[in-house]
Amino acid sequence: MPVIERLTAAEILDSRGRPTVRATCTLAGGASASASVPAGASTGAAEAHELRDRDPHRYGGLGCRNAAAQIGGEIHPSLAGRSFADQAELDRALIDLDGTPLKSRLGANAILAVSVAFARACALVRGVPLYQHFAGMLGPAPDTLPRLTINLFSGGMHAGRQVAIQDVLIVPARPTIDESLALAYDVYQAAAALILKRYRMRLLTADEGGLAPPCESTEELIEMAVVAIKQAGYRPGSDVMLELDVAASQFYANHQYHLDGAMLDSAGMIERLVRWVDRYPIVSLEDGLAEDDWEWWPTLHRALRKRALVLGDDLLCTNPARIRRAIDAQACNALLLKPNQIGTLTEAAEACRLAKEVGWQVTVSVRSGETEDHWAADLAVGWRGDQFKPGSITQSERLAKYNRLLAIEAETGWPVVRWPAG
Ligand code: PGA
Ligand code: ZN
Repeated sequence: MPVIERLTAAEILDSRGRPTVRATCTLAGGASASASVPAGASTGAAEAHELRDRDPHRYGGLGCRNAAAQIGGEIHPSLAGRSFADQAELDRALIDLDGTPLKSRLGANAILAVSVAFARACALVRGVPLYQHFAGMLGPAPDTLPRLTINLFSGGMHAGRQVAIQDVLIVPARPTIDESLALAYDVYQAAAALILKRYRMRLLTADEGGLAPPCESTEELIEMAVVAIKQAGYRPGSDVMLELDVAASQFYANHQYHLDGAMLDSAGMIERLVRWVDRYPIVSLEDGLAEDDWEWWPTLHRALRKRALVLGDDLLCTNPARIRRAIDAQACNALLLKPNQIGTLTEAAEACRLAKEVGWQVTVSVRSGETEDHWAADLAVGWRGDQFKPGSITQSERLAKYNRLLAIEAETGWPVVRWPAG
């Protein structure tokens, strides 16, 4: 049984230049591993709490010195010298030590960093790749790689809100990661050329590296994706599909969706989403409605379930209780899984298990604020994610994940899971 010898931490910076946390876990026997955690910007209201310093004179209050100090100052003395049978036991100890419902005392950022660093150190001791170690938490063993969903265009909070929706992503229908990325490159180049021609603009990119053209409507943005796919020499709907991250909570207020100059009620919003799915090769629709519009999610799900993934991000917050509620209400058919929304690997694994038990698809996702750490790629493979959503192909914190996936592909030769899964 692994015994924790030492836990240390540092404040480091993420891809937006904001602080985040890296933890290092050393086990008795000397195995030592680090892990960094990401941070969101369009966060769900029900997410676990990130501990930030709130010192207005430093990083606008976003510093993570306190979170890092919790690891060395409180978590280390409580856990050092103790043995843990498995990840669940360690995570339980962290949850108990924190003692709050949303991990607000020690901080979900501090807790997750320790949770993942411990997993990595254990994988090291076992001499297995991290994805294989992750697989052991959930079973059965993986034999496929996730499909990629890759940011092409961005709007919303990640791109100055020139259009309301957050992302238009491409989903290459290719049997390998290698071919999927080569296709994504072609489409990205075609899209960049299109933007230059239409708007006389060089590349402006959003937080996750998506292109951010000054479109006037969502449909203009989706339309451009279709044109870019065609100009790159591919067939929309068979070579490449689309996914939208609508991130509707971000433009929902007083029971109205403020979209493309219109005010829509929930029924009107659903009508709009169905129209997009009718017109464009959209196979997955994330957060089509707001996180607290529970009443209307089942209607959206009924309208689209045979045609597209009705994917819950802010709606579910990788939170087993919210997932149970969504299953009971038949609110959606797919989970967006972000471990830092819940704060430990064990709870994220429970979220994944619940979703898979009822036949939902699972998209493992990174955050808009990322680091060069690539454990999310191992997680997407180890937990048999149907899809993996690391962002665009042009920023190195995203490429760290794609490159890790290429390495896993080279090592295993596993094919990309087919659409639809199974
Ligand atoms: P976030 O955005 O990381 O800023 O929350 C990603 C998403 O909404 O999927
Ligand atoms: Zn989202």
